[in-house]
Amino acid sequence: MGWVGEGKKELTVGVVGMGYVGLPLLLQFAHCGNRVLGFDIDTSKVDSIKAGKSYIRHISSDAIAAALKEGRMDATTDFSRVPEVDAVIICVPTPLTKHREPDIGYILSTGQHIGPHLKKGQMVVLESTTYPGTTDEDLRPVLEKLSGLTAGTDFLLAFSPEREDPGNPKFKTADIPKVVGGFSVECGKAAQALYRKADINVVPVSSTRAAEATKLLENIFRCVNIALVNELKVVFDRMGIDIWEVVEAAKTKPFGFMPFYPGPGLGGHCVPIDPFYLTWKAREYGVATRFIELAGEINTAMPKYVISRMLEALSDRGKSLKGANILMLGIAYKKDVDDMRESPSFILWELLLERGANVTFHDPFVPVVPKTREHAHFTGLTSVSLTPEILKRCDAVLIATDHSNVDYAMVVRNAPLVVDTRNACGKLDADLRSRVFKT
Ligand SMILES: NC(=O)c1ccc[n+]([C@@H]2O[C@H](COP(=O)([O-])OP(=O)(O)OC[C@H]3O[C@@H](n4cnc5c(N)ncnc54)[C@H](O)[C@@H]3O)[C@@H](O)[C@H]2O)c1
Repeated sequence: MGWVGEGKKELTVGVVGMGYVGLPLLLQFAHCGNRVLGFDIDTSKVDSIKAGKSYIRHISSDAIAAALKEGRMDATTDFSRVPEVDAVIICVPTPLTKHREPDIGYILSTGQHIGPHLKKGQMVVLESTTYPGTTDEDLRPVLEKLSGLTAGTDFLLAFSPEREDPGNPKFKTADIPKVVGGFSVECGKAAQALYRKADINVVPVSSTRAAEATKLLENIFRCVNIALVNELKVVFDRMGIDIWEVVEAAKTKPFGFMPFYPGPGLGGHCVPIDPFYLTWKAREYGVATRFIELAGEINTAMPKYVISRMLEALSDRGKSLKGANILMLGIAYKKDVDDMRESPSFILWELLLERGANVTFHDPFVPVVPKTREHAHFTGLTSVSLTPEILKRCDAVLIATDHSNVDYAMVVRNAPLVVDTRNACGKLDADLRSRVFKT
């Protein structure tokens, strides 16, 4: 069986899920001269794209408008248009359930949307981060049942994990090599050819499972190393040693070391979630993943640790958290992005409220708290301005995200207490730095 896109000068590529991962990928294919069709169940995203407007801060509307103008791009909620494309790439969410188990419901429902329209010779590639076996054991049966076709014989199937780092100006979609694993050798080769049409370097692996496992290794590596520096931070805090100074010094070693930084807890759609996809799947094989679970425990304990340190700092000044006015600086999960998913700021916020503090926040990238599943009661709260008057009126500022466009010197000069969980004030003058309570 051949792939319908084989040898074509210009492909038509469908991307399902036009979020942080899907939209840049769609634009990359369009930029390289292909036609693209974005599928999403969210009509507001489809309407925005059709109007040439970006809804993701670090993606410019110009890029969308250019692709529209050239007639290379369209978006739809209508999956009966699947037959128009040579390949469908799936970039839908993979969260955890309430009980912290993998929720592949979005992948399966995408399979149900695509399946009835799948034609012979088309290709389906899954990109969502997930446990080894998802493409083959979970997605494939849905596609086969609803299309009446067989993977590897009638249509091509592959997995290629996304490695997007939103907000990182050093690496754009095209600069990041893509690991590609096919359901069969032929599927793998065709999927490699697909990504090459977007000028992306490919790294072939032997199977969809190996590709799925590669992504988990990458994120577990981050999760475990962040847990290690978080644990070291707690130890060094007690010893009066500055963990950031130590990491900066250690990273001058030209081999065998890679810096990771402590923080108030893990955030984002990947690192706090993905390791537990493996933990869950490993149980099926009777294997325990103690290292991963320990890392999860340490990282999950960080917000409580930060609050206990904050209590110490306040009590040194004769204050308690009860009734204190706390301004949280930064609520996005990492610097210079507007993404709030799994942000540790929400946990800090809840803990502060539980202890009777009055909490306001400032975030240059999040003017209004968006709707979230687990912290819906914060929805609609607005960012306060960061002025000397407001800072003077609060009892403490808690720096939870180290956005680059904040005047930290002004914050330290005016706030009675600054608790810095990200070393955001690390580059200030020595005099200002000495006033900051780092943790
Ligand atoms: N955001 C990142 O930095 C990042 C990095 C690497 C990997 N990933 C992985 O990529 C995947 C997607 O993440 P994201 O950050 O782009 O998510 P996102 O929430 O930004 O976007 C997902 C999109 O999928 C749409 N969607 C959901 N169900 C759908 C369905 N059945 N049919 C069509 N559209 C549907 C949603 O409306 C949304 O627009 C996840 O598995 C994630 O773990 C994300």
